[in-house]
Formats: sequence, C-alpha cells, structure tokens
Amino acid sequence: MRDMNIYKEQIITELRGKVGGKKVLLALSGGVDCSVCAALLSQAGADLTCIFVDHGCMRKNEAAEVKAAFADRDLKLVQIDAADRFLEKLAGVTEPEQKRKLIGAEFIRVFEEEARKIGAVDFLAQGTIYPDVIESDEKIKSHHNVGGLPDCVDFKEIVEPVRELYKNEVRELGRLLGLPECITERQPFPGPGLAIRVIGEVTRGKLDILREADFIFRDEVKNAGLDKNLDQYFAALTDMRAVGVRDGKRTYGYVAALRAVKTVDFMTAEFARVPYEVLEKAAARITGIVGGEGSDGISRVLFDVTDKPPGTVEFE
Ligand code: XMP
Repeated sequence: MRDMNIYKEQIITELRGKVGGKKVLLALSGGVDCSVCAALLSQAGADLTCIFVDHGCMRKNEAAEVKAAFADRDLKLVQIDAADRFLEKLAGVTEPEQKRKLIGAEFIRVFEEEARKIGAVDFLAQGTIYPDVIESDEKIKSHHNVGGLPDCVDFKEIVEPVRELYKNEVRELGRLLGLPECITERQPFPGPGLAIRVIGEVTRGKLDILREADFIFRDEVKNAGLDKNLDQYFAALTDMRAVGVRDGKRTYGYVAALRAVKTVDFMTAEFARVPYEVLEKAAARITGIVGGEGSDGISRVLFDVTDKPPGTVEFE
C-alpha cells in the first residue's frame, strides 16, 4: 500500500503545476471521491467551480449536508434542484441499466446547461477512482462518472486526481486534507442514487419512502456503533408488496430490503453479520413509515445475505 502522506504532497504539487490559477469545473455529488477531488483542486490553487446536480434521488438531507461541508472552502458551489426533470425521464422505466443510462444522459444535459453559463474552462475534473475504471472496462455496468461528460463542456483537458486510488486510499487522503468526517467516512453512493435502489418504476412517493427507510437503517447502525465496521449499508425498496397489520388494520405495503457489506476494495464483498437486535430496531421503525397518500408504506423488511460475487454491492 502506498504512503498517502507522500502521495498527497506529490499529487498537490503535480496538480498545482497543472491547474494552479486555471479554471476547473467539477461535478460534485457529495461522495468522498469527488469531494476529495474538490479539496485537492482548491488546495492546489485551482479556480474551481463545483456543480451539484440534485436529481431528486439523493439520500435524506444530502443536498444540505454537501452545502454545509463546502461552505468555507475556497471554491464556488452551484447547486441545482433538477428533481422534476429526472423524475419525468424515469417515468415508466423499470430496467436498472436503462435507469442508469437515462440518469447519466439527463445529468449531462443539466450539467451542460450550467456549464454553458460558466463558459469555457481549462479543465473538467472527474472523481473517477480505480475500481470505476476497471469495472467500466469489464462492462459490468455503466458508471456515469466514467467517460460521460467530456463531449458537452467547453474544456481543454480532463483531470482525474484520484484515478489511481482505491476507495480506502481516497478516504485516507481526504482525512489528510482535513475534510470533515461526514465527508471522509461517507459511504459510496451510486451516481444514479436511490433511483436504482427503488426496484421497478421510480416515483416520488417511492423515493420518499425509501429515503426514510434508508435514513432509519443508517441511524440504527450508527446508534449501535457499527458504522465504522461496515463498508456500505443502505436500504432498497423492492417492487414487491406484502400484507401486514398496523394499528389493527390490514396493510398492503412495500417490502424493503436492507443491505450491509464488508469489503476492502468493493470488487468483492461479503454480507455483514449485522446483529439481530440492530435489524429488529430498524425494522420496527421502518414498518412505521406510512408513506404518502394512497400508500401503506413498508409492511415487511428483509435482510440481504448475498456476497459479491455472485451479487453486487448495490441492490438494483
Ligand atoms: P457494485 O454494485 O458494482 O458497486 O458492486 C461497487 C461500488 O460502486 C458503487 N457504485 C457506483 N459508484 N457511480 C458511482 O460512483 C455509479 O454509477 C455506481 N454504481 C455503483 C456502489 O455503491 C459500490 O460502492
């Protein structure tokens, strides 16, 4: 494993020579990869503008957290609420790869519109990390942060400051750069967000239910002090419904799935043995989610015991 202290100095020096004083544009999602890129680039003296596109499929409070985390950094942050147009595109779409492609394409469009307002830049920065490069080569699934944006923005060159690094190295680099824990320890989150964790058609109502379930599970994992032991943990909303009982009345709500994995590099993973007590607390709260009008919320909660392979980390 490389020495990240040395690597940090090297990469900042290298970046300063390349992007110092130059206009750089970065799509910031709040994830650790692009956040570390933002910190590196601002530390290297780039004239950095970050565009945060909220596609409406973010986790609970995410947009606000990103804003707060970068409030006192030396960069310009443009936040766009584009939920309506993404949901319009996703209407009726159930196939995960198609969701990924549609969101990727729409993301480019929104990004392009914003980038046009900014005008010509010297560099387009991307938070691509090493596993993204490998998996895209293998065509397992399309990662929209790989090779997606270049055509549509007026830029001269691409800069990918963390392209050589594994996720654990990116986190360490983030800590060395003085980023807050809420960023460095942030779980990886797919570009298409909760849209792929809603199995079947994505609607605002389902997203709201999932956002709440995911928040509850993460909260219970944290309450149990397990957040540092698990590498990724989240809820997905299946397209199954099942009969339940709430307040003496029959319900017919969604079935949610909880997933938690242990992994070093996200290329392989094993399901985490989350204690029953934690699952029980999470399930009790999650089945209390009532959902929007006409919805019975969540009536059952399942736990995913699939390793990668044969599964993937995501549940899509
Ligand atoms: P899979 O599901 O392929 O996930 O085993 C491996 C890791 O990659 C994350 N992931 C993504 N990250 N854009 C990203 O930046 C994406 O489109 C994407 N899809 C999956 C996933 O959450 C896991 O950490």
